[in-house]
Amino acid sequence: MTFVVTENCIKCKYTDCVEVCPVDCFYEGPNFLVIHPDECIDCALCEPECPAEAIFSEDEVPDDQQQFIPLNAELAEKWPNITEKKDPLPEAKEWDGKPDKMKYLEK
Ligand code: SF4
Ligand code: F3S
Repeated sequence: MTFVVTENCIKCKYTDCVEVCPVDCFYEGPNFLVIHPDECIDCALCEPECPAEAIFSEDEVPDDQQQFIPLNAELAEKWPNITEKKDPLPEAKEWDGKPDKMKYLEK
């Protein structure tokens, strides 16, 4: 099992999640973060830390977010590791909660 970052992280990227992960299994793209499913130890610490409520346990990912399960696995192999919190994206507050952000995902 793993935890999964879903759509509402896009264009927000608060990175509070990174700070609490005991195994440093977050990977960073231009405007989104993913979790490496083979490295996540399922500790659940990151889930309540995300201000955008974008992190779910794999078995609780909403139906309309299922595509993010394979997407986390794919992009975690491609993107660099992130181990320290940084500033959110400049317009994070405006984008938090906006629907249909998938089209803005930069790979
Ligand atoms: Fe890291 Fe734990 Fe979150 Fe997995 S559940 S990404 S190990 S903080
Ligand atoms: Fe994204 Fe939430 Fe982490 S917005 S960067 S999953 S704290």
